[in-house]
Amino acid sequence: MSSSTSAKSPMLPGAPILPGATVGVLGTGQLGRMFAIAARRMGYRVHAFSPDRDTPTGQVADEEITASYDDLDELRNFARRVQVVTFEFENVPAASVAAIADIIPVRPSGFVLHTAQHRAREKTFLANAGLPVTPFALVDSEADLQAAVARLGCPAVLKTASFGYDGKGQVKIATADRALAAWQSLDRQPCVLEAFIDFGRDAEVDAVRRVQGEIAHYGVIENSHQNHILDVSVSPADVPPEIEVEAIRIAEATLDALDVIGLLCVEMFLTRDGKLLINELAPRPHNSGHLTFDACVTSQFEQQLRAVCGLPLGSTEQLRPAAMANLLGDLWSNGEPRWADACRHPDVKLHLYGKSAPRPGRKMGHLTALAPTRDAAVREVLAARSALTTHAALVEPR
Ligand SMILES: Nc1ncnc2c1ncn2[C@@H]1O[C@H](COP(=O)(O)OP(=O)(O)O)[C@@H](O)[C@H]1O
Ligand SMILES: [Mg+2]
Repeated sequence: MSSSTSAKSPMLPGAPILPGATVGVLGTGQLGRMFAIAARRMGYRVHAFSPDRDTPTGQVADEEITASYDDLDELRNFARRVQVVTFEFENVPAASVAAIADIIPVRPSGFVLHTAQHRAREKTFLANAGLPVTPFALVDSEADLQAAVARLGCPAVLKTASFGYDGKGQVKIATADRALAAWQSLDRQPCVLEAFIDFGRDAEVDAVRRVQGEIAHYGVIENSHQNHILDVSVSPADVPPEIEVEAIRIAEATLDALDVIGLLCVEMFLTRDGKLLINELAPRPHNSGHLTFDACVTSQFEQQLRAVCGLPLGSTEQLRPAAMANLLGDLWSNGEPRWADACRHPDVKLHLYGKSAPRPGRKMGHLTALAPTRDAAVREVLAARSALTTHAALVEPR
């Protein structure tokens, strides 16, 4: 142990990291911001690390450290001043995580991170663990590509193995003769080819696991996308009870197989014939779980904190049906959205991430509506979102 950590009270292995301690976060976007809000509410200090300044997380954290994820000296300095490190961004190099893990626990582990940051490793791990994944093949050469297309057929989806998000780094291949052009458009990077799944809906399970193996989950959350970006999430999901049970079983088995300590979001496709297939994993808070912030006894962010600090998990009970709608930078195209008009909906909560540049497609914030039914929650959240960009018909009486 370094001299700076030995100054703190000695910690038994497995002893909880208690309020007053400092938690480190790698990545400084909105996921880290909401994590930091949860952590500060419980009396923890938060140090956030990323290459950027004045970030969504940094604005809320006690300290914002601005350095490259490759800067091992800065990462070690960061690690020496915190009691545990977690992340909200999974594309941190493995060597960087290893350098931190030599000093202080990283939760979830570098192994989880390494597996989830590469589609081929992730799918191979899941398939070897006997978990259901979309049929896939690795593509590293033209020969691989032709063999993969021959085996999986078309339509198919070609995805870069690393760094994809919000549909970036993937191309749909309609017919076999388009495969090479598709791979070229991805700069011939290492890829996975997946069979195109004609799924009925997508179903996510956000779950959390602590050191002792205890797991809590939020049931199935249903998502809809616009232009490959999550648009609306609803909970509870409209899925048959036996599907819900199976989705939760798959999620729990995935957390156990990876020995996750912290949060893991398991994105699944529910096919039209009722099969669940894992699409991808996110070892961090997930956009689909934002509604837990307002709708559940314990949010996904507080659960992440509790799990990585070794505290007992909180209840995931949902207090009311809820729907979440993302606010993208596009909403700013005619000037600042009308925040006060959205606030006329008293059961809608406004979240903004403190980002200054509202670029199209950029996640700037979200709204969560709570209502007696899921359909009412969806109506309410969409009404509040459209109020942001439409003139109110009536002027509110004074
Ligand atoms: N094999 C597939 N078949 C059908 N649709 C897919 C497939 N893979 C991805 N998609 C669609 O594209 C979206 C984004 O793909 P995903 O693999 O989750 O990448 P990202 O990292 O961008 O979230 C999915 O939510 C789904 O709607
Ligand atoms: Mg996805």
